[in-house]
Amino acid sequence: MNFELTPQQKAVQQSARQFAQTVLQETVLEDDAAGRFPEEAYKKMGEMGFVGLPFPKEYGGQGGDYLSYVLALEEISKINSSVGIAYSVCTSLYSGALINDGNEEQKKKYLPEVLSGKKMGSFCLTEPDAGSDAAGCKTTAIWNGKEYILNGLKCFITNGPLADYYMVVALTNPELKTKGLTAFIVEREWEGVSIGKIEDKCGIRCAQVSEVIFDNVRVPKENMLGEEGKGFAVAMKDLDGGRIGVAAQGLGIAKGAYDIAFNYLKEREQFGKPLYKNQYLAFKMAELETEIEMAQYMLYKAATDKQEGKSYSVPAAKAKMVCTDAAMHVATEAVQMLGGNGYMKEYHVERMLRDAKITQIYEGTNEIQKLVISGNMFRK
Ligand code: CAA
Repeated sequence: MNFELTPQQKAVQQSARQFAQTVLQETVLEDDAAGRFPEEAYKKMGEMGFVGLPFPKEYGGQGGDYLSYVLALEEISKINSSVGIAYSVCTSLYSGALINDGNEEQKKKYLPEVLSGKKMGSFCLTEPDAGSDAAGCKTTAIWNGKEYILNGLKCFITNGPLADYYMVVALTNPELKTKGLTAFIVEREWEGVSIGKIEDKCGIRCAQVSEVIFDNVRVPKENMLGEEGKGFAVAMKDLDGGRIGVAAQGLGIAKGAYDIAFNYLKEREQFGKPLYKNQYLAFKMAELETEIEMAQYMLYKAATDKQEGKSYSVPAAKAKMVCTDAAMHVATEAVQMLGGNGYMKEYHVERMLRDAKITQIYEGTNEIQKLVISGNMFRK
């Protein structure tokens, strides 16, 4: 397997790195402290083509490949992984669902403004009683002869307060449970759509996460995504792509924390020599570098499988698990290696540690990824 990057992929990586190190780096500490999403910076990412990277030009995308998108997401997440997850939810989940299951009209109506960064999209599956057990949704969309009437509450919705459009999974036939779920595109401006509690979180504090409430929202039939009763499969297929996005976010955090620790060990002197001259710390860095490289292979393989049209559900689950575990491990070790400084905001690694934790939880906990992987192994 050869992951030698093409000149185009290297150019995307370089431009995302430069954008992150200048624009996002400048405000990341303030944005984290204020729990504020850098909306102007995100719009700029859209203008620069990052949001639409892996999608066809006819819908406002850049016609690029999936690995290029992963490389950009990694670079953004190295500096501000809250922006990384907002980007991943818009690109992998919201736009991914439309690309996978939208019809021509839906793609032309609901993709271009999101892919150019002017608007944002979101993905509404989780409910208070339907987290890991995603099929346990209680939100309903009942056909009244003219349109669907949507009622229910979705929680932990990334981009909830910022989004203009929501991909929503609801029961069109409550008696059929999983087979009664259907996906829809719902507009924020429609009557009956409102934002509930905005979450106060441990990490990814710049990302905006909230409840989204649907109260007798009238949804036209044209907004159904895929077929009636196929909403669970639509969401699961979409999450396979989303998990590649979270893996890229995790790998970005791991690499960001590693770089900070690396520079620190070279510059900081204790006991009359730079820290890296302590074999314990040098060996620790060797282990972390190896862990990051292993995770990177898993991620680039999943992205390449998706790009080549191969089945990528299991590679995505493996990449998500390995990259996000690496994020947590490397960030924790980085804080420890920086000692007292590591615990302080201006060294960034404490934020990376807080941000890393959620990557092991959302878009399917890492235990759920093991369910996906083992289920596939034993079914075979
Ligand atoms: N692609 C297509 N179809 C799929 C699929 C996939 N990857 N996975 C499952 N399906 C289909 C199955 O084929 C099956 O269809 P049939 O009934 O026709 O055979 C149907 O879906 C049900 O599949 P399962 O029996 O495997 O379903 P399950 O109820 O046992 O659940 C699960 C499986 C893996 C546990 C699933 O519920 C799951 O992934 N849970 C985690 C939920 C999750 O990831 N939530 C993320 C929320 S979004 C988020 O976090 C975004 C954010 O804000 C950052």
